Amino acid sequence: MVTGAGKNIGKEIALEFAKNGANIIVCDYNEENALETIREISALGVKAMPAVCDVRDRAKIFEYVSVAVEQFGKIDFLVNNAGGSAYLLKKLTRFVDAEESTLDFVIDTNLKGAMHCTQAVLPSMIAQKYGKIINISSIAAVCGLYDRVDYAAAKAGMIGMVKALAMEVGEYNICVNAISPGAISRNGKTSDHVTYLGENGRCGSPKDIADAVLFLAYQDYITGENIVVDGGRSLGPSHR
Ligand SMILES: NC(=O)c1ccc[n+]([C@@H]2O[C@H](COP(=O)([O-])OP(=O)(O)OC[C@H]3O[C@@H](n4cnc5c(N)ncnc54)[C@H](O)[C@@H]3O)[C@@H](O)[C@H]2O)c1
Repeated sequence: MVTGAGKNIGKEIALEFAKNGANIIVCDYNEENALETIREISALGVKAMPAVCDVRDRAKIFEYVSVAVEQFGKIDFLVNNAGGSAYLLKKLTRFVDAEESTLDFVIDTNLKGAMHCTQAVLPSMIAQKYGKIINISSIAAVCGLYDRVDYAAAKAGMIGMVKALAMEVGEYNICVNAISPGAISRNGKTSDHVTYLGENGRCGSPKDIADAVLFLAYQDYITGENIVVDGGRSLGPSHR
């Protein structure tokens, strides 16, 4: 199950899993994009099921997961990728001016959405004593980011969630990890709102993130970790 699988990073993750023979639950609130991902996945010879809903909609997420478990028999992997900053609302601002509704949106989308999806799949993973849960966080969680205090906090929350949950579910052979991307290109180009970070070498690609996700998905001795995938961007200033 990959959330936000309708485009960019989530879509690439879904396609990489499909290339490895996994059937996919494509979760995205954009139906058109979800169906396009499904078309591309189906062409690879695996099955795909749409879950067209907002990850903030706990009831719908639980409903889709129960249908998926019935249809596929199990869920082995969950990638909590759906997310974004107040940029989605065109409401990026200094924290002092941030509206409460924006804080709710950002925290509910990134952090609570991941919690809903994780709670929905956990009972079946615990029952089968197997599972991999991967949260897509951000380097904003470890370095901070102007105009995105809520986003940085939500993404840091996703890392805290990973560590505490990894402790609880290790005995069921479930690994829980995070990946923190740096600036990643969208549709092959760097988005306007990330260019101001400054170019230090190339921007990452969705494939760079998908490769890290697949690595975590097919190992069983790394858990509670956050892997930064940013080409070194968060190491410090780029000049000598
Ligand atoms: N692109 C970057 O530079 C970057 C950097 C660090 C972290 N990230 C994180 O990676 C993830 C994916 O980023 P992206 O650049 O591919 O984003 P994107 O905006 O290009 O795509 C996100 C996808 O998720 C879907 N989505 C968004 N909110 C949803 C919700 N509430 N419920 C269901 N579907 C929802 C959208 O419809 C879209 O298909 C996000 O969590 C983002 O915060 C991205």
